Amino acid sequence: MVLIDGKQTASDIREEIKNEVAELVKQGKRPPHLVAVLVGNDPASMTYVSSKERLSKKAGFHSTLLHFDKNISESELLKTVDKLNRDDTVDGYIVQLPLPLHIDSQKIIMAIDPAKDVDGFHPVNLGKMVAQLPGFLPATPYGIIELIKRYNIETSGKNALIIGRSLIVGRPLSILMSQKREGGNATVTVAHSRTKNIKELTLQADIIVTALGKAHFLTAGMVKEGVVVIDAGINSIEAPDTKRGYRLVGDTDFENVSKKASFITPVPGGVGPMTIAMLLKNTLQAYKYQFASNK
Ligand code: GUN
Repeated sequence: MVLIDGKQTASDIREEIKNEVAELVKQGKRPPHLVAVLVGNDPASMTYVSSKERLSKKAGFHSTLLHFDKNISESELLKTVDKLNRDDTVDGYIVQLPLPLHIDSQKIIMAIDPAKDVDGFHPVNLGKMVAQLPGFLPATPYGIIELIKRYNIETSGKNALIIGRSLIVGRPLSILMSQKREGGNATVTVAHSRTKNIKELTLQADIIVTALGKAHFLTAGMVKEGVVVIDAGINSIEAPDTKRGYRLVGDTDFENVSKKASFITPVPGGVGPMTIAMLLKNTLQAYKYQFASNK
């Protein structure tokens, strides 16, 4: 069994980005600039955004956090988005989701300039992904494809089962893995909450990606010997024996499934760290597009 070390891979990617940025700065260019827009004080979002800030800076990026009160109006937020779109010193930005319920997330995403949409959530970028045109891939599916590539996992002609159809992970990944590309060429099945007899599907799968957000959903009895398991779930479960009182686990019963798997990602330290690394990669790409078109 090979343990897919997302923490190390993400660190390698950030190091590659850091070296590239250092070279650009040496040539007299300004560093890439990533902005994160955060609304409210959701603890998970705050943790995620502060990691983005820290790792952006570590890679040599200029990083800005725009933190708004949870009561900001939709029109105020749209004004901020418009300002970021027109600011030439900003290469890419993300609006952290979820947004408070009084704000229409779709409306905000639609207002983001696709050239700065380093999350890859705008329909223009999703469309480019489908058409295999250059654009920004959503960071988590992009990170999963990168892990598959860097671990030389064979996907061509394999049965890949993706459990979960979210716009952030499952749906884009199902498109990428079925495309004619490295990390693709798989026969992809997407399972979701309405899927019947999921065990029949999991037992046939050569590769299983879990992205449904249910602790210990995938058990050893559901998988075949030699399966590749990529776990994109992050679930908090009670753990009274720990200092924090909780523990983060994926969607897979790692302890038992790992005994049958040929490759498996741990949680934490698997898919999670890849997301920010790929966000930085998208931002560097946005910076290069900006220089290619303007400067
Ligand atoms: N919320 C959870 N994951 C993400 C992400 O990748 N980007 C944004 N903007 N919000 C998120």
